[in-house]
Amino acid sequence: MSAAVFCTATVLIFVWIARFVHKWRNPKCNGLLPPGSMGWPLLGETLQFFSPTSTFDINPFVKDRMKRYGPIFRTSLVGQPLIVSADSDLNYFIFQQEGQLFESWYPKTFTEIFGKQNVGSLHGFMYKYLKNMVLTLFGPEGLKKMLPDVEQASNTYLKRWSTQNYVELKDATSSLIFDLTAKKLISYDPIKSSESLRKHFAAFIEGLISFPLNIPGTAYHKCLEGRKKAMKVLKDMLQERRTNPGRQQSDFFDYVLQELGKEDTVLTEAIALDLMFVLLFASYETTSIALTLAIKLLLEHPLALKELTEEHEEIIRERENPDSSLTWREFKSMTFTFQVINETVRLANIAPGIFRKAREDINFKGYTIPAGWAIMACPPVVHLDPARYEDPLEYNPWRWKGLDMNGATRSFMAFGGGMRFCIGADFAKLQMAVFLHCFVTKYMCKAISGGDILRTPGLQFPNGFNAQISKKDESVGVQI
Ligand code: HEM
Ligand SMILES: *[C@@H]1O[C@H](CO)[C@@H](O)[C@H](O)[C@H]1NC(C)=O
Repeated sequence: MSAAVFCTATVLIFVWIARFVHKWRNPKCNGLLPPGSMGWPLLGETLQFFSPTSTFDINPFVKDRMKRYGPIFRTSLVGQPLIVSADSDLNYFIFQQEGQLFESWYPKTFTEIFGKQNVGSLHGFMYKYLKNMVLTLFGPEGLKKMLPDVEQASNTYLKRWSTQNYVELKDATSSLIFDLTAKKLISYDPIKSSESLRKHFAAFIEGLISFPLNIPGTAYHKCLEGRKKAMKVLKDMLQERRTNPGRQQSDFFDYVLQELGKEDTVLTEAIALDLMFVLLFASYETTSIALTLAIKLLLEHPLALKELTEEHEEIIRERENPDSSLTWREFKSMTFTFQVINETVRLANIAPGIFRKAREDINFKGYTIPAGWAIMACPPVVHLDPARYEDPLEYNPWRWKGLDMNGATRSFMAFGGGMRFCIGADFAKLQMAVFLHCFVTKYMCKAISGGDILRTPGLQFPNGFNAQISKKDESVGVQI
């Protein structure tokens, strides 16, 4: 190759790179793009976004940029141009415009992992259809039927834990919640089943937020394998149910089979299995994190624990027969318990971001969000806003007392908002309230080690949370 050709080629490559970088930094927009930086080409600001912190506070990634650019700014994460919204009016607008100006969107690695047709990414008719299916299970009537099951499972697990030297609470509550949900959805019995569905899920979740490199040995590979194995268990179970119908207790599988049998159905087996997987996942990670954090915060705040215990002891005192099981009315009377739950999920910010995509150019407060861009609404900014919650980093369940929650979606979005409000919110609250009832009335708990939190930006317990659980000894009268 002659020197001249070599030089020309080098110059062309540089020009091409420079143009690429320039285009990357200055995306096209028919209007005023919100301020911000697109970070490195391709990588964007992904690394900054995922860098870990160990407080409940707003992700420094968001906090710093809010200071620099204001509450609406642009960035790029996992190869996707993105508008971050820390603006409560825009958040509200996003929820109201669901399915119109905005649609549900999750990073591509997520959709690949979860299946292409999960609830999160389905639109229109199919979405409403699936939602109705799920609501029959987790709606008010379904929950009333579930109350005794949740109480029984909580008692069984607590009794088991109290015979052990200590338990790791995140893992322990995960297995309780998973078994409960799996039982409701597919009558999954962990004792009778040879294949451990939960193990496959654990492998799946460990690699969920990892670099998407699919070769043996990587966390991402284990994640995909975990999903594959879990899907196989679900598929086999559905197949077995097909050949062996006629059990008395009906669950979600029966419902699915019934639907699949209809002539004009839009449901396919693949969609049903993806949906099952998403539901098991949604309950496995979220509720167990909330419950673990609830226990940690109660142990750190004896006054709150005392008031909670009194509320539940009062419920039992009011009964004719103290050993009778929880009623729906008793469940509804747990006022302070629901304050504790609200305060826990406010601080937990289990969903650090809620993602959408703009269907067309959207003008808002002088800025233009170009069609095709992703938008991330930030619940932590709302939940830790001192104008809405005094001393926002303080754990204070009493702040909810008599709180006027008019315009709740503007001040509280732990379960999302608008049309895509969490289907499992009431189910999660029921599980937590009933578990706490069984816990504080019959058991004592002592933290042993761990319990530190880490945000990446999802909430994690990096070294677990070990605690000793023992039966309350009435004769000595020791309180937790
Ligand atoms: C403390 C526990 C939980 C928290 C904090 C939580 C949080 C959320 C949030 C923030 C959303 C909105 C996502 C969006 O708008 O894109 C959501 C949606 C959803 N959640 Fe939950 N969730 C919890 C428990 C559960 C449980 C137990 C289930 C299932 C049994 C569940 C099933 C779902 C489903 C299916 C959706 C999608 C709804 C839709 O797209 O219309 N969640 N959840
Ligand atoms: C918890 O928050 C929800 C949603 O904002 C609200 O409707 C409810 O009243 C709160 N519960 C308590 C006990 O404050």
